[in-house]
Amino acid sequence: MTAQLIDGNALSKTLRADVAVRAAALTARGHQPGLAVVLVGDNPASEVYVRNKVKACHDNGLHSVMDRFPATLAEHELLAHIAKLNADPAIHGILVQLPLPAHIDSHKVIEAIAPEKDVDGFHVANAGALMTGKPLFRPCTPYGVMKMFEAHGIGLQGANAVVIGRSNIVGKPMALLLLEAGATVTICHSKTRDIGHHTRAADVIVAATGRRNILTADMVKPGATVIDVGMNRNEEGKLCGDVDFAGVREVAGYITPVPGGVGPMTITMLLVNTIEAAERAAQA
Ligand code: GUN
Repeated sequence: MTAQLIDGNALSKTLRADVAVRAAALTARGHQPGLAVVLVGDNPASEVYVRNKVKACHDNGLHSVMDRFPATLAEHELLAHIAKLNADPAIHGILVQLPLPAHIDSHKVIEAIAPEKDVDGFHVANAGALMTGKPLFRPCTPYGVMKMFEAHGIGLQGANAVVIGRSNIVGKPMALLLLEAGATVTICHSKTRDIGHHTRAADVIVAATGRRNILTADMVKPGATVIDVGMNRNEEGKLCGDVDFAGVREVAGYITPVPGGVGPMTITMLLVNTIEAAERAAQA
């Protein structure tokens, strides 16, 4: 059996068309949605991500500003800049690209973002609300993965779901969203003794570790859904995920490719979150 591909580009296209309609409607009422993307330092991967986010805004009728600072920026200067963005009525979403240089406390920076502009969903208020009730924003990558399940009619109620990775950006919020959807959720990570023991019982596997080949065909139950959040490079410098795609696609029922899977969905859900922020601000 060869798995059916879950095409993140195609699904993004549909969802972004809706974003563009909502952005145009807000703009017509004098409330063009605005996103501020803040990049500190010159991490090449971050530069690519940030450029793609800003381009996606422009392509879909959102206003966006990219604020670039050198790696030597002092923490208090970054906090002062965030305070300015918090007070700017043209900005509805603020995204500080992570990782930040080591001398800056990213926790402090995230907590400085107004929760109603925290389109990443990383602020403690939104992370806490994700755990206990309705968050203002769901973190973009796991939110995008949930849209992929929905679009393909992949049932989660009562499903065994395994998340590999426990980051604040993907692993932990992914597990909470799956739990909210009625799955029985296991979180595996670098200290897990036998990841395959858990994944072989899983109907749904989400790999988000940043390590190539963390999931191989022998670790997957036939017909399972495999979502690859990884973004790595192989020996030839080619983009690849955390999953051994060639092997796993012969066993899984559904699989996401890298590139063209989760990546575009992350950006799409950032646009959706920014639109929602702008719609809430326009109603206020
Ligand atoms: N770095 C890697 N992924 C993300 C993300 O989703 N948001 C931010 N702000 N930084 C990231």
